[in-house]
Amino acid sequence: MSGKFITFEGGEGTGKSTQLKLLADVLASRKISAVRTKEPGGTEIGLELRRLLCCGDKDKFDGVAEALLYFADRRIHLTQKIWPALRDGNWVLSDRFADSTMAYQYYGYNKKLPKQALENLYQIAVGDFRPDLTFILDIDPQIGLARSFAKAAGMEVKETRFESRQLEFHQNLRRGFLEIAAAEPDRCVVLNADKSIEALHREIVQTVAERLGWE
Ligand code: TMP
Repeated sequence: MSGKFITFEGGEGTGKSTQLKLLADVLASRKISAVRTKEPGGTEIGLELRRLLCCGDKDKFDGVAEALLYFADRRIHLTQKIWPALRDGNWVLSDRFADSTMAYQYYGYNKKLPKQALENLYQIAVGDFRPDLTFILDIDPQIGLARSFAKAAGMEVKETRFESRQLEFHQNLRRGFLEIAAAEPDRCVVLNADKSIEALHREIVQTVAERLGWE
């Protein structure tokens, strides 16, 4: 596949979507064709799964069901959108990908699911494919959740199923993201997201230039 695949990961309220959009603008200014997408919900079917996964009672199903649904969403996302776009030479920027499942459904729930089971699901749904670069935007969950609730207050559909989990869940998943990054330093870059949008954007652009180049 000739395009580059970049993912943005992190807990709630880290500013991933804003940073993704800003990077897409930079790519466009360099005449690099980029597709912006997200998980869950990067496809039409995915949007239906997103509503099921992100809205409503936090205990309506457990972490196992969540993991299965997230991987179903991912498989559809890969086959219908990500892989075709990369094959056509586009860059693909995704707001979340598989690290979110490991962080939320494994670390968030305090490692109740066997890690191997999630790794097996990854193999089935994704195979050996990996992002070329992953940004892990790191922030104290208390700050991130406050940002996230403020944003949700202005929305018609409240996607706060995960936000409504206890702080411990969010602290666990934050540690999870940091462990994932430490295990795969060639792919993952952790950036402190508790700074201005512009400062974080500069770091992201610099990292892309250093790690992937612009051609
Ligand atoms: P977003 O609010 O960043 O768009 O993400 C949607 C929610 O879904 C967010 O609370 C994180 C959660 N999520 C998981 O729990 N596991 C996953 O694999 C993904 C992709 C998202």
